[in-house]
Amino acid sequence: MRKIDLEHIEISSKLARPIYNSKSQMLLGQGTILTSKFIERLKVLGYTSVYIDDGLIDDVTIDETISEETRLQAVNCLRVVNEEIQNRKPFNVSLVKKVVSDIIDDLIASREMMLNLSDIRSYDDYTFNHSVNVTVISVMIGMSLHYTQNRLHDLGLGVILHDIGKTQIPLEIINKPAKLTDDEYAVVKKHTWHGFELLRSNPEIKITSAHVALQHHERCDGSGYPRNLQGEDILEFARISAIADVYDALTNDRCYRKKLPVHKAYEILLENSGSHFDNYILDRFIQKIALYPQGTKVMLNDGRSGLVISQNHISPTRPMVRLFWHRDKELPKPVEVNLLYEPALAITDVISN
Ligand SMILES: [Fe+2]
Repeated sequence: MRKIDLEHIEISSKLARPIYNSKSQMLLGQGTILTSKFIERLKVLGYTSVYIDDGLIDDVTIDETISEETRLQAVNCLRVVNEEIQNRKPFNVSLVKKVVSDIIDDLIASREMMLNLSDIRSYDDYTFNHSVNVTVISVMIGMSLHYTQNRLHDLGLGVILHDIGKTQIPLEIINKPAKLTDDEYAVVKKHTWHGFELLRSNPEIKITSAHVALQHHERCDGSGYPRNLQGEDILEFARISAIADVYDALTNDRCYRKKLPVHKAYEILLENSGSHFDNYILDRFIQKIALYPQGTKVMLNDGRSGLVISQNHISPTRPMVRLFWHRDKELPKPVEVNLLYEPALAITDVISN
């Protein structure tokens, strides 16, 4: 299977994975043949990509960092919590703790895996899926920093609720598809304080977790908000979540900009190492990123191109690739190369699907 942008999809492609909405309802099942009507409908709903089987790498299953079930439950839980807060009801912290615990269990089971977040989301589901991904990445970083289980739970709880303060910001500002005015931006920045207040007033949430909501937009050089904290004055949980938050935002489509390929997002994080981001924590994280995730279409320096089929953990820039084309011509038959053992070959470009 491979992920493909709806912009480039061919009519009659076969869905390799079901598509769900934010209420965990299945919109289209696995194996569905995508008619032009389905494709248009998905675009209207705000979806930008889907998984398909098109005969090229159908035998390759995408290793998921967390299971689809865990993701759907987490997204659903966040939707419920958001509604409870908007209706000024006390929210169910034990439900959130259960979801965090499931995410940690999935991550422990897939400990050796590179980060691969394979969610299919629409613009409308952005916020909840984003919070789940930021939690997955943060817990993964916590694990590479050898956190205890209790500490991973405290980190995960703070991170999954890091943007909860956005419930207190008018929707027309949160969902504005254009650049915010200075006044609107000042209002958005307050979500950090709102989130902190909501979390610290809850006796079931530790103050360190609540501080993630307050500090996740702080930057190591003091250029962040709301308090322009610097370096180690920023809680470690918040320094972790800042990296996870930016990485997931860059690698996903927003209504105002297209997503970046993983290796570009990686470059941006590195450019800001030490200034925006804690360099030690960032180093731990980048060792976990699959720079060219399975299914990525890549060009090699000899003019051949193909799709990434698996990773080499010891060298993230040199995955296994199944080659199908040479310049614009199809090869007589597909060829598999393991770049780890082909020092003369290298990836020169990522081709958008
Ligand atoms: Fe935020």
